[in-house]
Amino acid sequence: MATAALAGRAAAAIGDGAHVPVLVIGTGYGGSVAALRLAQAGVDVHMVEMGMAWDTPGTDGKIFANTKTPDYRSYWLRTRTKQPISSFLGFPIDKDVPRYTGILDAEEFSGIIVYQGRGVGGGSLVNGGMAVTPKRENFGAILPSVSADEMYGTYYPRANSELGVNNVDPAWWETVDCYQYSRVGRKHAQRSGFAFTLVPNAYDMNYMKQEAAGSAPQSAVAGELLYGNNYGKKSLPKTYLAKAKATGRVQISPLHRVTSVTPAGTRYTVVIEQLTSDGTVSATKTVTADRVFFAAGSVGTSKLLTKLKATGALSNLNGEVGKGWGDNGNVMVGRANHMWDPTGAVQTSIPTAGIDNWAAGGAFAEVAPLPTGIETYASFYLSITKNPNRAQFSWNAAANRVDLNWQTAWKQPAINMAKTIFDKINSTEGTIYRTDLFGGTKTWGDHLTYHPLGGAVLNKATDNYGRLHGYAGLYVIDGALVPGNTSVNPFVTITALAERNIEKIIATDF
Ligand code: FDA
Repeated sequence: MATAALAGRAAAAIGDGAHVPVLVIGTGYGGSVAALRLAQAGVDVHMVEMGMAWDTPGTDGKIFANTKTPDYRSYWLRTRTKQPISSFLGFPIDKDVPRYTGILDAEEFSGIIVYQGRGVGGGSLVNGGMAVTPKRENFGAILPSVSADEMYGTYYPRANSELGVNNVDPAWWETVDCYQYSRVGRKHAQRSGFAFTLVPNAYDMNYMKQEAAGSAPQSAVAGELLYGNNYGKKSLPKTYLAKAKATGRVQISPLHRVTSVTPAGTRYTVVIEQLTSDGTVSATKTVTADRVFFAAGSVGTSKLLTKLKATGALSNLNGEVGKGWGDNGNVMVGRANHMWDPTGAVQTSIPTAGIDNWAAGGAFAEVAPLPTGIETYASFYLSITKNPNRAQFSWNAAANRVDLNWQTAWKQPAINMAKTIFDKINSTEGTIYRTDLFGGTKTWGDHLTYHPLGGAVLNKATDNYGRLHGYAGLYVIDGALVPGNTSVNPFVTITALAERNIEKIIATDF
């Protein structure tokens, strides 16, 4: 563990008392876009990231742990894993792990667990790479104040290109063992009359071909995903952040967590805690910045802003801060197939397909892998639904924390929308739902989300480009801007919106 523990410390960390022109909180999609474009415009940027650098191998010689064998690297400051699928065939599969600043945070609020990536690269380190541009006819409901012409003409193409988004070779997909689960998903969707689409991904599909053929070290095909991919994934450290660092104008401090931002004349004072790999605060630093970009993710940014407004540090923020939070309608479910319909013992962890019933039933279902290494006869899905429920963050002074008032029952519309697809498929196929995946005899994975969105919504908490109302020089540039739903997987939209906003901000504010 010693080498991995050093990973976060190896980078040049920000010094106590430092002054920086721009400080970016978080190194996910929004933060990485801001850092690259500002640096290219000649501005020096310091990025502060609470997670580790993830650039040094652990005890087994690999940087990241396999999804099938979680270890100390897998969870953010937990002593027991909190796996999204918590049981299999009725047996609990969570296990004890050493407390460590691991890569996946299962952050628990009263009615929902919000999964998030922790480390340099944010969610790009742990996500499925599904790089989906929403259908243009749905865009008006996603970001009503943003020009669709500009997004589809300029910013979505720019985001897809920088993220290295690519498509699976359909001829290969049709025959390779590791996508049998997807082809079974297609067969069942089509037999029930649903549209089925292959979707782009940020995983290098040529690399996956090589690993499937045995000519390159395996990552996706070996089931790596939730706790990082050792190969193949075009995560942010290989795309935006690599380019940003190459400018020579971007520094990153991993294992540093921002706790406060307050005005100091025309600048801002930022308080940062430095962490050790067991989560202990080893130093508290105070720096100043001319401008601060909140890019800590929907939950991270919303929690900071809600606390700072309520405690008076940023009391001029408006009443929209903390509002409009949604789960992108996420709900999971498994189906038990017949014995003559195997989904494959080897399943690549990278999903490439979805069932589109958005217009008629309000659900887009990703055909997800269940890479257990054995034949499960199961089909598994993560649905994104038009769930209209929105929650609000609030400051709980007594407990010294930010709460979120989401209720588990608010997932019922999402379940009903997902059922428009899966009740029909079960009826056509003569199959049933799996009840052994989420503990007890639970059918629906309604206790979690992978896609937190909102909390500092564009054109409400901020102006139409992410400038926070009440404070010149403070910006939001991450998933907190998106009002709760994107109709598809969100990171391409978060990236494209950040590209749009930073272009305007650089042109007018710098
Ligand atoms: P993001 O969460 O990426 O980055 C925020 C960063 O800020 C993090 O690195 C965090 O550690 C850091 N931070 C937070 N608070 C801080 C503080 N106080 N100080 C310093 N740093 C702080 N999406 C998709 O489009 N396709 C997909 O296939 C998937 N799959 C998927 C699977 C799983 C398991 C997860 C958890 C998520 C996905 N997603 C996804 C969602 C996607 O990853 C997510 O929408 C984006 O990462 C959000 O980007 P942001 O820039 O908003 O924040």
